[in-house]
Amino acid sequence: MLRILVFVGLMFVASHGAAQDDGTVPEKQTGQAASPAAEQLSATPASPVERGKYLVHHVAMCVMCHTPKTEDGKLVTTRLLQGAPMPVGSPYPRQRWAFRAPAIAGLGGFSEESLVTLLQTGSRPDGAAPEPPMPSYRMTEEDARAVAAYLKSL
Ligand code: HEC
Repeated sequence: MLRILVFVGLMFVASHGAAQDDGTVPEKQTGQAASPAAEQLSATPASPVERGKYLVHHVAMCVMCHTPKTEDGKLVTTRLLQGAPMPVGSPYPRQRWAFRAPAIAGLGGFSEESLVTLLQTGSRPDGAAPEPPMPSYRMTEEDARAVAAYLKSL
């Protein structure tokens, strides 16, 4: 029994030592490989329009409500963010609910300041809030302006 324990112990020390020998070098290599990639990222920051596009399509998902869909639920990309009917009603019978999401491509007649306030606070500058299911966002000013820049570019 003791012999087995000693053997296992030795195996452990051996493999542990080996792991350290192996581990040290790749760790350094990873570090070296990571920093040029990080530099590259910071050297080419996304433009506000690119960042806005990412937020609108992949994070805040504005496209899913403000773009019409085909019968099988795909976005009609030729009418991107040009307004769409809301296909679902509120789960709460007495809740106010909008049946249409307006056009927001090219800002859709909304001023940049009003959109930025809406995306930062959930309300327009006059204090009124759009009806659900329009989400009440709490974006940073930078993100809200990036979304506005992207919508303006459409
Ligand atoms: C879950 C669906 C949904 C999502 C996601 C969504 N919206 Fe809306 N949005 C609506 C609906 C519905 C309305 C209409 C509300 C009303 O009539 O009061 C609306 C209204 C608006 C308005 C008009 C506000 C006003 O003052 O009348 C703007 C601007 C707007 N959305 C921008 C956005 C942007 C930008 C995003 C993404 C950051 C977004 N929406 C995401 C459903 C959505």
